[in-house]
Amino acid sequence: MTPELYKQAMRRLGSGVSVITTRTPAGQLAGFTATSLVSVSLEPPLVLFCLRLDSNSIAAFREARGFVANILAAGQEALSEQFAQLEDDRFRGVAFRESGAGHPILAGTLASLECSTRQVLPAGDHELFLGAVEAIHLGTGRALIYWDARYHAL
Ligand SMILES: Cc1cc2nc3c(=O)[nH]c(=O)nc-3n(C[C@H](O)[C@H](O)[C@H](O)COP(=O)(O)O)c2cc1C
Repeated sequence: MTPELYKQAMRRLGSGVSVITTRTPAGQLAGFTATSLVSVSLEPPLVLFCLRLDSNSIAAFREARGFVANILAAGQEALSEQFAQLEDDRFRGVAFRESGAGHPILAGTLASLECSTRQVLPAGDHELFLGAVEAIHLGTGRALIYWDARYHAL
């Protein structure tokens, strides 16, 4: 068992791609690309995502106490790349509207889930953000899938 072998194994797991967005009480926008979004519970509806401890965005997600999980559609690869790169303003040129809590709901997604943060749990070199789903916006299209370190349209 080595870190490289672990990465090789997990590259074989195909995953949907999401951009998780938030706005801090001070009004700062943050967002990052994630394959770690998972459904946890139906009653009540709970989701979680994992964020690296050394992420530039982690302080914003801790402060915000809420987020939107934007599930990307096939054709939104550029959006995924924009939110995975170190840029001053990841929201430049990005179409979005605000959730009731002020978090960005990106345009053209397959689905966007407005969540309030219930728990933040340590997990190795990541933190788990567990959120209660408060509202849902559905779009249409095919799924964007990340598998073997590449994008695929389902
Ligand atoms: C397809 C894809 C999936 C990713 N999934 C995650 C994830 O689930 N958790 C995470 O912390 N980083 C993930 N990343 C990396 C982050 O998007 C990236 O490291 C981060 O946005 C860097 O900026 P930050 O310091 O603001 O986090 C993923 C990147 C890509 C391209």
